[in-house]
Amino acid sequence: MRSVGSDRIAGFGTSIFTEITALAVKHEAVNLGQGFPDFAAPDFVKQAAARHIRDDRNQYAASAGVPRLRAALADDWRRLYPDARAVDPAGEITVGSGATEMLHDAVMATVNPGDEVIVFEPAYDAYAPDVAMAGGVVRAVPLAPPDWRFDPDRLAAAFGPRTRALILNTPHNPTGKVFPRAELEVIAALCRRHDALVISDEVYSEILFDGAAHVPIATLPEMFERTITIGSMGKTFSVTGWKVGWTIAPAPLTAAVRAVHQFVTFTNAAPFQEALADVLPAAAANGYYPQLRADYARRRDLLARVLRDAGLEPLPIGGAYFLLTDIAPLGYTSDADFCRKLVTEFGVAAIPTSVFYQRPESAPPVARFCFAKRDETILAAAPRLAKLHR
Ligand SMILES: Cc1ncc(COP(=O)(O)O)c(C=O)c1O
Repeated sequence: MRSVGSDRIAGFGTSIFTEITALAVKHEAVNLGQGFPDFAAPDFVKQAAARHIRDDRNQYAASAGVPRLRAALADDWRRLYPDARAVDPAGEITVGSGATEMLHDAVMATVNPGDEVIVFEPAYDAYAPDVAMAGGVVRAVPLAPPDWRFDPDRLAAAFGPRTRALILNTPHNPTGKVFPRAELEVIAALCRRHDALVISDEVYSEILFDGAAHVPIATLPEMFERTITIGSMGKTFSVTGWKVGWTIAPAPLTAAVRAVHQFVTFTNAAPFQEALADVLPAAAANGYYPQLRADYARRRDLLARVLRDAGLEPLPIGGAYFLLTDIAPLGYTSDADFCRKLVTEFGVAAIPTSVFYQRPESAPPVARFCFAKRDETILAAAPRLAKLHR
């Protein structure tokens, strides 16, 4: 019998998140693996959704997203980036099922078979499969620890006549790097010179530490016209299960994204879109964002202390909600082996960052721990991790 799967999906396998989560459940591990909050979502966010379900906003939303939400997203863009070009909610914003769908739509909308797409490695695990599904080819450019800078010459060398797009992620999963403006300018100059698009995944844009500033690459000169910016409600409002994501892009790119979106999901959950339309202005007015950052800074410091006590020194971060540790000092050379052992024998789930590389053997041995967790969860990992010493 022929293989049931298409050639397109050959090699996709099961994501490491599924594997580690299954092991975490089986071994009753403290789960610091998959990146989702285990604490309650904010009340004003939950109440907004409940209100719209009660008010019967329960039928298909407009395919591009409910107009009230697109208007709120455009207002938020103006509030956050007052010096940047304003966004037209009618023709430049599209809402879909989380950043995951919008990444897929953006890649399918712009990449032709044989086109090359540059990604920085480590890279979020959806990018390469999205490029493969479009028939494109990934060109990986490494980010080097401990500050995860790229070599500008290596980036320049990755561009060529077949380069169609670069996928950027800032703040970056898994490293926590927030790309500084100077590095974004280098990327932007190369994209302009080679007429390449940028697909910019900015789902952690509100989770920032120690004064790090998030700069959307679309706000750099002459970059809006060649950038698809992707956002998500999940991380910012601790509702990863709601799956509300969006793109901001100039009209021709938005038309291309919508052409795909209409046949992938057509639309996503209407009451959650309506809720986000209420939540965005409320969060800007009620001090939500500084509190979010303060809460995450506290959780980061707590996890850092727990890791240090176990002999794992975390690398510095500027944003997102992960800490990375070099596991070589504990005598491990494979982060995948370390994480499997950690979950099965020590009862703590973490993610090996080598899975964020095209060639896992080229990755530094580094494990990722998520701190979007209750204090009790982080503290429950402490005695288990302490056993690593012995
Ligand atoms: C970098 C990055 N992009 C996209 C996503 C997916 O976002 P969503 O849940 O909105 O689909 C995640 C989720 O972990 C992420 O870390």
